[in-house]
Amino acid sequence: MTRIDVFTLFPDAFAWFQAQRHVRNAVAGGLELGYVSYRDHTPLNAGQVDDTPFGGGAGMVLRVDVVEAALHAHYGVDPVGLPAQRRVIALTPGGRILDEPLVQELAGEPELTLLCGRYEGFDERIIEHFCSDSVSIGRYVLAGGELAAMVLCDAVVRKMPGALGHEESAVEESFSSALEGAPEYPHYTRPAEHRGWRVPDVLLSGHHARIREWRREQSRLMGERSSPRRVDSGPLP
Ligand code: 6GU
Repeated sequence: MTRIDVFTLFPDAFAWFQAQRHVRNAVAGGLELGYVSYRDHTPLNAGQVDDTPFGGGAGMVLRVDVVEAALHAHYGVDPVGLPAQRRVIALTPGGRILDEPLVQELAGEPELTLLCGRYEGFDERIIEHFCSDSVSIGRYVLAGGELAAMVLCDAVVRKMPGALGHEESAVEESFSSALEGAPEYPHYTRPAEHRGWRVPDVLLSGHHARIREWRREQSRLMGERSSPRRVDSGPLP
Protein backbone atom coordinates (compact mmCIF):
# COMPACT_ATOMS: atom_id res chain seq x y z
CA MET A 1 0.00 0.00 0.00
CA THR A 2 1.49 3.31 -1.03
CA ARG A 3 -1.49 5.61 -1.23
CA ILE A 4 -5.05 6.02 0.07
CA ASP A 5 -7.29 8.82 -1.22
CA VAL A 6 -10.40 9.56 0.82
CA PHE A 7 -13.22 11.52 -0.82
CA THR A 8 -15.45 13.13 1.78
CA LEU A 9 -17.62 16.07 2.74
CA PHE A 10 -15.72 16.30 6.03
CA PRO A 11 -11.96 16.13 5.53
CA ASP A 12 -11.44 17.70 8.99
CA ALA A 13 -13.01 14.61 10.57
CA PHE A 14 -9.81 12.69 9.77
CA ALA A 15 -7.46 14.92 11.82
CA TRP A 16 -7.64 12.71 14.90
CA PHE A 17 -7.14 9.54 12.86
CA GLN A 18 -4.16 11.02 11.03
CA ALA A 19 -2.47 11.88 14.34
CA GLN A 20 -2.46 8.28 15.63
CA ARG A 21 0.98 6.78 16.18
CA HIS A 22 0.54 3.80 13.83
CA VAL A 23 -0.78 6.07 11.08
CA ARG A 24 2.12 8.50 11.50
CA ASN A 25 4.53 5.55 11.43
CA ALA A 26 2.99 4.32 8.18
CA VAL A 27 3.19 7.81 6.68
CA ALA A 28 6.84 8.07 7.75
CA GLY A 29 7.33 4.69 6.02
CA GLY A 30 6.03 6.06 2.71
CA LEU A 31 2.22 5.81 2.87
CA GLU A 32 0.51 8.83 1.33
CA LEU A 33 -2.90 9.69 2.76
CA GLY A 34 -4.89 12.24 0.77
CA TYR A 35 -8.26 13.82 1.40
CA VAL A 36 -10.46 15.32 -1.28
CA SER A 37 -13.48 17.41 -0.38
CA TYR A 38 -16.42 16.90 -2.75
CA ARG A 39 -17.43 20.48 -2.00
CA ASP A 40 -14.19 21.83 -3.45
CA HIS A 41 -15.05 20.30 -6.80
CA THR A 42 -18.81 20.66 -7.12
CA PRO A 43 -19.92 22.15 -10.45
CA LEU A 44 -23.07 23.42 -8.68
CA ASN A 45 -23.73 26.73 -6.96
CA ALA A 46 -23.22 27.43 -3.28
CA GLY A 47 -21.22 24.25 -2.70
CA GLN A 48 -24.20 21.98 -3.27
CA VAL A 49 -23.26 18.29 -3.21
CA ASP A 50 -26.48 16.42 -2.52
CA ASP A 51 -30.14 16.52 -3.44
CA THR A 52 -33.55 15.11 -2.51
CA PRO A 53 -34.31 11.55 -3.65
CA PHE A 54 -36.35 10.98 -6.82
CA GLY A 55 -39.57 9.22 -5.84
CA GLY A 56 -39.65 11.02 -2.52
CA GLY A 57 -38.54 10.00 0.93
CA ALA A 58 -36.41 11.35 3.72
CA GLY A 59 -32.88 12.62 3.59
CA MET A 60 -30.45 13.70 0.92
CA VAL A 61 -28.50 11.76 -1.69
CA LEU A 62 -24.94 12.46 -2.84
CA ARG A 63 -25.05 13.53 -6.51
CA VAL A 64 -23.39 11.56 -9.30
CA ASP A 65 -22.21 14.69 -11.14
CA VAL A 66 -20.50 16.00 -7.98
CA VAL A 67 -18.62 12.76 -7.33
CA GLU A 68 -17.66 12.55 -11.00
CA ALA A 69 -16.25 16.10 -10.90
CA ALA A 70 -14.21 15.37 -7.76
CA LEU A 71 -12.78 12.11 -9.14
CA HIS A 72 -12.04 13.73 -12.50
CA ALA A 73 -10.33 16.71 -10.88
CA HIS A 74 -8.17 14.46 -8.73
CA TYR A 75 -7.21 11.72 -11.21
CA GLY A 76 -7.47 13.67 -14.46
CA VAL A 77 -9.38 10.87 -16.24
CA ASP A 78 -13.00 9.95 -16.84
CA PRO A 79 -13.76 8.09 -13.59
CA VAL A 80 -15.67 5.43 -15.53
CA GLY A 81 -12.23 4.00 -16.33
CA LEU A 82 -10.94 4.12 -12.74
CA PRO A 83 -12.28 0.82 -11.35
CA ALA A 84 -10.30 -1.09 -13.99
CA GLN A 85 -7.08 0.51 -12.70
CA ARG A 86 -7.57 0.62 -8.94
CA ARG A 87 -9.94 -0.35 -6.13
CA VAL A 88 -12.53 2.42 -5.77
CA ILE A 89 -14.56 1.62 -2.67
CA ALA A 90 -17.91 3.14 -1.75
CA LEU A 91 -18.57 2.94 1.99
CA THR A 92 -22.19 1.86 2.31
CA PRO A 93 -24.06 0.05 5.12
CA GLY A 94 -25.22 -2.69 2.72
CA GLY A 95 -21.80 -3.42 1.18
CA ARG A 96 -19.44 -6.37 1.60
CA ILE A 97 -18.68 -6.79 5.29
CA LEU A 98 -15.16 -5.75 6.24
CA ASP A 99 -13.42 -8.70 7.89
CA GLU A 100 -9.84 -9.86 8.27
CA PRO A 101 -9.59 -11.54 4.83
CA LEU A 102 -10.90 -8.39 3.12
CA VAL A 103 -8.49 -6.23 5.14
CA GLN A 104 -5.60 -8.48 4.00
CA GLU A 105 -6.80 -8.27 0.41
CA LEU A 106 -7.02 -4.45 0.49
CA ALA A 107 -3.67 -4.12 2.27
CA GLY A 108 -2.14 -5.89 -0.74
CA GLU A 109 -3.40 -3.25 -3.19
CA PRO A 110 -0.94 -0.56 -4.31
CA GLU A 111 -3.50 2.24 -3.97
CA LEU A 112 -7.04 2.65 -2.69
CA THR A 113 -9.77 5.21 -3.27
CA LEU A 114 -12.45 5.50 -0.58
CA LEU A 115 -15.73 7.33 -1.21
CA CYS A 116 -17.67 8.47 1.83
CA GLY A 117 -21.37 9.19 1.48
CA ARG A 118 -23.57 11.23 3.75
CA TYR A 119 -27.21 11.56 4.54
CA GLU A 120 -29.21 8.82 2.81
CA GLY A 121 -26.20 7.73 0.82
CA PHE A 122 -25.01 7.67 -2.79
CA ASP A 123 -26.86 8.05 -6.03
CA GLU A 124 -26.68 4.40 -7.17
CA ARG A 125 -25.00 5.42 -10.46
CA ILE A 126 -21.89 6.40 -8.45
CA ILE A 127 -21.54 2.82 -7.21
CA GLU A 128 -22.45 1.29 -10.56
CA HIS A 129 -20.11 3.33 -12.76
CA PHE A 130 -17.23 4.64 -10.65
CA CYS A 131 -16.67 1.95 -8.00
CA SER A 132 -15.10 -1.49 -7.93
CA ASP A 133 -16.46 -2.39 -4.48
CA SER A 134 -18.88 -1.34 -1.80
CA VAL A 135 -17.84 -2.09 1.76
CA SER A 136 -19.71 -1.97 5.07
CA ILE A 137 -18.33 -2.19 8.60
CA GLY A 138 -21.45 -3.91 9.96
CA ARG A 139 -25.18 -4.23 9.67
CA TYR A 140 -26.25 -0.95 11.27
CA VAL A 141 -26.50 2.54 9.81
CA LEU A 142 -24.07 5.35 10.54
CA ALA A 143 -24.80 8.96 9.63
CA GLY A 144 -21.98 8.90 7.12
CA GLY A 145 -19.11 6.88 5.70
CA GLU A 146 -16.31 8.79 7.45
CA LEU A 147 -16.14 6.60 10.55
CA ALA A 148 -16.30 3.50 8.35
CA ALA A 149 -13.47 4.87 6.16
CA MET A 150 -11.37 5.43 9.28
CA VAL A 151 -12.09 1.88 10.46
CA LEU A 152 -11.04 0.49 7.09
CA CYS A 153 -7.89 2.68 6.95
CA ASP A 154 -6.95 1.79 10.52
CA ALA A 155 -7.21 -1.93 9.83
CA VAL A 156 -5.27 -1.68 6.55
CA VAL A 157 -2.60 0.70 7.84
CA ARG A 158 -1.82 -1.62 10.79
CA LYS A 159 -0.70 -4.21 8.23
CA MET A 160 2.01 -1.96 6.86
CA PRO A 161 5.58 -2.80 7.84
CA GLY A 162 6.71 -0.57 10.69
CA ALA A 163 3.24 0.82 11.47
CA LEU A 164 3.07 -0.88 14.87
CA GLY A 165 6.68 -0.13 15.71
CA HIS A 166 7.12 -3.74 16.83
CA GLU A 167 7.28 -6.17 13.93
CA GLU A 168 5.80 -9.19 15.69
CA SER A 169 2.75 -7.31 16.96
CA ALA A 170 0.53 -8.07 13.99
CA VAL A 171 1.66 -11.66 13.39
CA GLU A 172 -0.04 -13.46 16.27
CA GLU A 173 -3.14 -11.39 16.85
CA SER A 174 -6.85 -11.98 16.63
CA PHE A 175 -8.07 -13.63 13.39
CA SER A 176 -4.51 -13.94 12.02
CA SER A 177 -3.40 -17.09 10.19
CA ALA A 178 -0.88 -17.68 13.02
CA LEU A 179 -3.94 -18.31 15.21
CA GLU A 180 -5.82 -20.14 12.43
CA GLY A 181 -8.32 -17.30 12.14
CA ALA A 182 -9.40 -17.48 15.79
CA PRO A 183 -9.58 -14.49 18.14
CA GLU A 184 -6.53 -13.78 20.22
CA TYR A 185 -5.80 -15.43 23.59
CA PRO A 186 -6.41 -13.39 26.78
CA HIS A 187 -3.67 -11.06 28.05
CA TYR A 188 -2.66 -10.20 31.61
CA THR A 189 -0.22 -7.73 33.17
CA ARG A 190 0.77 -6.66 36.70
CA PRO A 191 -0.45 -7.00 39.36
CA ALA A 192 -0.39 -10.82 39.39
CA GLU A 193 -3.26 -10.72 41.84
CA HIS A 194 -5.97 -8.09 42.29
CA ARG A 195 -8.89 -8.55 44.70
CA GLY A 196 -8.07 -12.24 44.69
CA TRP A 197 -8.28 -12.44 40.87
CA ARG A 198 -5.15 -14.33 39.94
CA VAL A 199 -3.32 -14.38 36.64
CA PRO A 200 -3.16 -17.98 35.31
CA ASP A 201 -0.13 -19.68 36.89
CA VAL A 202 1.22 -20.91 33.57
CA LEU A 203 1.90 -17.31 32.47
CA LEU A 204 4.09 -16.75 35.53
CA SER A 205 5.90 -20.07 35.12
CA GLY A 206 8.51 -19.01 32.58
CA HIS A 207 7.90 -22.22 30.56
CA HIS A 208 7.68 -20.78 27.06
CA ALA A 209 6.54 -23.97 25.36
CA ARG A 210 3.75 -24.45 27.91
CA ILE A 211 2.73 -20.77 27.60
CA ARG A 212 2.55 -21.13 23.82
CA GLU A 213 0.44 -24.28 24.18
CA TRP A 214 -1.91 -22.56 26.70
CA ARG A 215 -2.36 -19.55 24.42
CA ARG A 216 -3.21 -21.72 21.39
CA GLU A 217 -5.79 -23.57 23.46
CA GLN A 218 -7.29 -20.34 24.83
CA SER A 219 -7.45 -18.85 21.35
CA ARG A 220 -9.30 -21.95 20.14
CA LEU A 221 -11.73 -21.79 23.08
CA MET A 222 -12.41 -18.10 22.49
CA GLY A 223 -13.19 -18.91 18.85
CA GLU A 224 -15.87 -21.32 20.06
CA ARG A 225 -17.18 -18.81 22.56
CA SER A 226 -17.78 -16.11 19.95
CA SER A 227 -18.91 -18.27 17.04
CA PRO A 228 -22.51 -17.64 15.93
CA ARG A 229 -23.70 -21.22 16.47
CA ARG A 230 -22.99 -20.84 20.20
CA VAL A 231 -25.11 -17.72 20.57
CA ASP A 232 -28.35 -18.41 22.40
CA SER A 233 -30.81 -16.10 20.71
CA GLY A 234 -33.64 -17.07 23.07
CA PRO A 235 -37.02 -18.57 22.24
CA LEU A 236 -38.36 -18.04 18.72
CA PRO A 237 -41.26 -15.56 18.45
CL1 6GU B 1 -19.65 1.94 5.30
N1 6GU B 1 -21.56 3.62 6.00
C1 6GU B 1 -22.61 3.99 6.74
N2 6GU B 1 -23.19 5.16 6.50
N3 6GU B 1 -23.12 3.23 7.69
C2 6GU B 1 -22.52 2.08 7.91
C3 6GU B 1 -21.42 1.63 7.19
C4 6GU B 1 -20.95 2.44 6.21
N4 6GU B 1 -21.06 0.41 7.64
C5 6GU B 1 -21.90 0.14 8.61
N5 6GU B 1 -22.80 1.13 8.78
